[in-house]
Amino acid sequence: MTDRPWHPATLAAQALGRTDETTGALIPPLQTATTYLRDADNQYRRGLSYGRADNATVAHAEALLCELEGGAGCLLFASGMAAATAVFQALAPGDHVLAPKVMYWGLRHWLMTFARHWGLAVELVEMSEPGALAAAVRPGATKLVWIETPANPTWAVTDIAAAAEIAHRAGARLAVDGTAATPVLSRPLQHGADLVMHSATKYLNGHSDVVAGALVGARADEFWQRLAALRHDAGAILGPFEAWLLLRGMRTLYLRVARASASAQFLAERLRGHANVAQVLYPGLPEHPGHAVAARQMQGGFGGMLSLRVAGGEAAAIATAARVTLWHRATSLGGVESLIEHRASIEGPGTPVPPDLLRLSVGIEDPADLLADLEQALAGAAASG
Ligand SMILES: Cc1ncc(COP(=O)(O)O)c(C=O)c1O
Repeated sequence: MTDRPWHPATLAAQALGRTDETTGALIPPLQTATTYLRDADNQYRRGLSYGRADNATVAHAEALLCELEGGAGCLLFASGMAAATAVFQALAPGDHVLAPKVMYWGLRHWLMTFARHWGLAVELVEMSEPGALAAAVRPGATKLVWIETPANPTWAVTDIAAAAEIAHRAGARLAVDGTAATPVLSRPLQHGADLVMHSATKYLNGHSDVVAGALVGARADEFWQRLAALRHDAGAILGPFEAWLLLRGMRTLYLRVARASASAQFLAERLRGHANVAQVLYPGLPEHPGHAVAARQMQGGFGGMLSLRVAGGEAAAIATAARVTLWHRATSLGGVESLIEHRASIEGPGTPVPPDLLRLSVGIEDPADLLADLEQALAGAAASG
């Protein structure tokens, strides 16, 4: 035994070291019960009464993610969007919130439509410039600053510590969408954030077979209790089977993220001078505007996500995606298999995403295979255009 705290990678590999006390099984069973026995004297001494509130499998996955982020509490939700929107719904109509201009489009769309209609004063800011955030924040009125770093799909980087300081000075909370970075590469609570949100659909699960979301809080304060009550009362819970798969996925999180990050760095470096690539967007490249900040707040790599701006514009980008044979043309990210996507097509009219941009989610395949497939697709598209 040792007094040394276990590294998060160790905690993840062993899912906190919990085994099944009843049978000795190494892997705890999937608990599917929706209801629990009352004691004869009408009490619930074991503390579990009904499935919407209580599930051991869900609680186990929450406990692990809480440790990985270094938080005071974790809540799993039915999806990343359910987790993210709970944070905004826990505010009061009239509250001022700031969100990034560059962010996951689904949440931006929800903020500009539903959240505004519901009464939140939503404003979008260039979050990669701390000066822009400082100018936009309204002391006393701004209740939440939402950032995403690195941010979809340009991988713009926001300085978490600087954003936390600006938010806190104004009396606001800072929430970070850490989906792309994962706790392996960045732990926002340690940089002053109050909340971390994940689309656990992505790297945390990692196998493209679970939709899930998570919030991790720095403190079990009154706002956190409000989030817990909102999930319980509104019911956007994660099912036990999804939680069980998520727990299984998190056992290999550190291996998967390390491999994907190393391969993304390799691809970014090999493609940045390519004749058919106008620009590679990846925070691991020194020329990326967020590189210095990313190097400060990420450790062990810059993530598995990068984007290519294809020389020849939109038609060349779509033609390149059409010619890959190993990469899968699909949306989403963070799985073991590599995905390629013409991002403007999925975001639709009005998107700020450049039409020549292909978003790449790098999986855990052999990096030379991934490069070879991209190179033949780029060359083929250029020759046919
Ligand atoms: C960065 C980011 N945040 C949030 C979400 C929403 O998560 P979900 O699809 O699990 O609801 C996504 C989904 O693509 C995402 O990429």
